[in-house]
Amino acid sequence: MTEVPRPAPAPGRGPLLEGERVLVRRKEGESYLLALQRGTTLIDGLGVIDLTAAIGAPEGAEVEIAGRPSRVYRPSLPDLVSQMRRRSQIITPKDAVTLVYLAGVVPGSTVLEAGSGSGGLTLFLAEFVGPQGHVVSYDRRPEHQKVARDNLQRSGLGDRVTFREKDVREGFEEQGVDAVLLDLPEPWEVLHAGRAALRPGGYLATYTPTYNQLERSVRALREEGFQEVRSLEMLERGLHVGEGGTRPEFDMLGHTGFLASGRKMA
Ligand SMILES: C[S@@+](CC[C@H](N)C(=O)[O-])C[C@H]1O[C@@H](n2cnc3c(N)ncnc32)[C@H](O)[C@@H]1O
Repeated sequence: MTEVPRPAPAPGRGPLLEGERVLVRRKEGESYLLALQRGTTLIDGLGVIDLTAAIGAPEGAEVEIAGRPSRVYRPSLPDLVSQMRRRSQIITPKDAVTLVYLAGVVPGSTVLEAGSGSGGLTLFLAEFVGPQGHVVSYDRRPEHQKVARDNLQRSGLGDRVTFREKDVREGFEEQGVDAVLLDLPEPWEVLHAGRAALRPGGYLATYTPTYNQLERSVRALREEGFQEVRSLEMLERGLHVGEGGTRPEFDMLGHTGFLASGRKMA
């Protein structure tokens, strides 16, 4: 049998380190996103806690926090999504990951996004571009963008994102970017600006809740000269798995939005 190579633990692997962002999950189910610090801290909803015992522990080890058994581990993307505070409707994970795919976002990409909303899509983009990439997120409403900014800061991914408070109908400030993602009511109004900001070969992708918006977006993508224009809808159906009784869940989220994308060619 061939041995699987085992490199030294990369950052974000191995035992938990002081100063890292961690998720504290209590046996009862509540969870909290916190910085792993030595000594006591006062946390809203938890009281005075001491996380010292979790420093140097493997992820998920059970430690006693404020007198109750809890598990401490590094938050995954699903954990970060579940911890988000919301002001505007956030994009669902099935749509966010498909947009990342359609827009060709990879580690190291530079990506523009509008609008920030609560930062739902921003969180996915920041995770996928990785520490070498960057996201610039625009919104014209400061009260929305504040929620996005706070969510990204709490997630520990804030340094991968620059927020700009601006109406993108006035244009983007960057040029030569790898991808542009639009989740706003009238994306067709900013396709020209989006195309100007893209590098040749880069993708622009839109997310819109109605057929009418999709139609206008796709027409504008074609008129702007985008190539490889495509549109699709993602449907997700949960499954109830029980021995001898496996079947689809009865409830299903019937509709979220439609995705479209196009590619800029020189
Ligand atoms: C549905 S929300 C985006 C939700 C976000 N993708 C998320 O997952 O949390 C739409 C946002 O677009 C912003 N917006 C709409 N038109 C805009 C424009 N022309 N320029 C900049 N932001 C705009 C709105 O203020 C709003 O915050």
